Amino acid sequence: MSQFLPEFLHGYIPTTIQLVYLIATGFFIVGIKRLGSPATARSGNQLASFGMFLGVVVTLFDQEIISFEFIIAGVLIGALLGATAAKKVQMTAMPEMVAVFNGFGGGASALVAWGEFTRLDPSLFDTQSLITIGLSILIGSITFTGSFIAFGKLKGFIGGGRIALPGQNNINLILTAIALVLVGWFTYDPEYQVVFWSLFGLALLIGVLTVLPIGGADMPVVISLLNSYSGIAAAMAGFVLDNNLLIISGTLVGAAGLILTNIMCKAMNRTLPNVLFGSFADGPAGGPETSDSDKSIQQTFADDVAIQCAYAKKVVVTPGYGLAVAQAQHVLKEVANLLEERGVEVKYGIHPVAGRMPGHMNVLLAEADVPYDQLKDMDEINPEFPSTDVVLIIGANDVVNPAAKTSPGSPIYGMPILNVDEAKRTIVFKRSMSPGYAGIDNDLFYSDKNQMFFGDAKKSLQELASAIKELD
Ligand code: TAP
Repeated sequence: MSQFLPEFLHGYIPTTIQLVYLIATGFFIVGIKRLGSPATARSGNQLASFGMFLGVVVTLFDQEIISFEFIIAGVLIGALLGATAAKKVQMTAMPEMVAVFNGFGGGASALVAWGEFTRLDPSLFDTQSLITIGLSILIGSITFTGSFIAFGKLKGFIGGGRIALPGQNNINLILTAIALVLVGWFTYDPEYQVVFWSLFGLALLIGVLTVLPIGGADMPVVISLLNSYSGIAAAMAGFVLDNNLLIISGTLVGAAGLILTNIMCKAMNRTLPNVLFGSFADGPAGGPETSDSDKSIQQTFADDVAIQCAYAKKVVVTPGYGLAVAQAQHVLKEVANLLEERGVEVKYGIHPVAGRMPGHMNVLLAEADVPYDQLKDMDEINPEFPSTDVVLIIGANDVVNPAAKTSPGSPIYGMPILNVDEAKRTIVFKRSMSPGYAGIDNDLFYSDKNQMFFGDAKKSLQELASAIKELD
């Protein structure tokens, strides 16, 4: 960089570079903070992206490894690939995309550590550098293969259920212990290359073996955990390169991923060991846990739903995975607009794990321009159900299943749910009586206060919109 500047400025270059690193870090922190609310998430994303852009550019200057043309070409190619992927991928396929990104992140950290180790004479490294190289190889490689196995499971390339040998969990624990011993051995004797390569190979194998036994349906939680690993691996690579920005950004990703994993586990009433060592939900279930043919349901149709909603004071919409499958968010907004024009108060109750990824419903509804102040978290909306006239349950099932409160034997028992059963009337929009993700029957469907509106959610909502328009 120095060749582009007058000589009297050369002394300021190291300080300026550190200052830009600090500014980039500030963008990351403010960006993550703003991701905490739908109203500010978009700008948070932009700020964090800009921070990353600054970080990439200043690192390239810092290392004096590249010319302007390469920086610009790299930025353009990277931006094109990233933007195309982000635009093309379906919302329901977002977990797969995140899995791939995590895999590349982990792989990149392992490659950085490998590159640094092979670039210099092993005897030149101090103990701290060797430990961080070893951990970077270990965590980065586990993340790499684990994420691609998760991707394969979500895409259906690899069987979605648990694929495990007898005693697989113990085998994995023993292999992880051996890998940690290898990190220690590598630190003690870095010149013995066999140890380095054994560690690399074993870590890649551990990634495969730890994710294969996890049920495909638990993959979103695992992906969040792998996201955290990719951050930790990046932080380790930051220590290897002595790069503060990488240490800070990796730590932020690591911590954010862990917090998210914890939130998802809590909202599903699962513990992390329970997800990792599996005991429930080996993929979307094939049929209800109980099918009681004596129970009866009330079916309804668009005209009747239109009348009930149009003459209600307050309507709450609780969306779920089926809304995403049907891509019904825009027509749902149209229905809400029609109701609001008639003076009905409309709100949306969002369960933290409705859908298949964190924030799934918020993103869908934001896409349809639903005002953020109408989106209510579970804790905010639950006290409002007793005063709600009609709840429209659009493609949601487990997140409104009262078994979570009433059936101690149920796999979802203890999971916090939207208390829609406290409202005066519930109307469920779904195609059939099939269960949701947890594979269990839902007693709400048989309640006297409930009606079933069968059909694809988009088609049913279109019919409802037409029926409301036809009312005087
Ligand atoms: P689910 O319980 O999975 O129920 C979705 C319902 O949507 C199904 O019963 C299905 O019934 C219906 N549906 C599917 N396609 C539809 C369409 N085109 N039109 C209308 N309805 C349609 O969804 P939920 O209530 O959102 O609960 C989410 C579940 O996923 C929870 O158990 C949660 O623990 C789990 N999970 C969530 C996450 C995150 S982070 N969100 C991560 C992992 C697991 P039909 O087939 O009869 O239509």
